[in-house]
Amino acid sequence: MSAAIDWDALLAAALKVRQNAHAPYSDFQVGAAILTDDGRIFTGCNVEISSFSHTCCAERVAVFKAVSEGARRVLACAVVTDTSPPVSPCGACRQVLNDFGPDMTVLLSNPAGERRSYPLSTLLPEAFLPDRVLEKIHARYGKGTE
Ligand code: THU
Repeated sequence: MSAAIDWDALLAAALKVRQNAHAPYSDFQVGAAILTDDGRIFTGCNVEISSFSHTCCAERVAVFKAVSEGARRVLACAVVTDTSPPVSPCGACRQVLNDFGPDMTVLLSNPAGERRSYPLSTLLPEAFLPDRVLEKIHARYGKGTE
């Protein structure tokens, strides 16, 4: 685990925001907290929708909140559930995390204090990268803003 990252603070934020999870259908509450390269922490909980496919996971809520506040680079992500072992982000969340921080470390934990950490690149090997799309679009239309 990187020494520069305050994992205790990130975990505390994930644990706290988990209390806000809106999970009336699954009763599976998830909290996530991410650290961005400007030192900010953004949190997210899962938000379930009655038409289930519109549900959004905690990790994606955290990333989207960060991006909407101007952040573009995620250094670390903590995820808290009350399972043992702690759960790992779903595939969709791994891709979203990867787009904004392919070098990040992901820490999985639970209120009992179990901790497992992984480089995101281990959770999502051979990841699809935004660069591949941008290269093609830039070749076709020139470089704009993204
Ligand atoms: N969930 C997350 O919030 N993050 C994940 O990485 C996996 C699943 C949520 C979605 C849904 O609200 C509940 O957990 C059960 O799948």
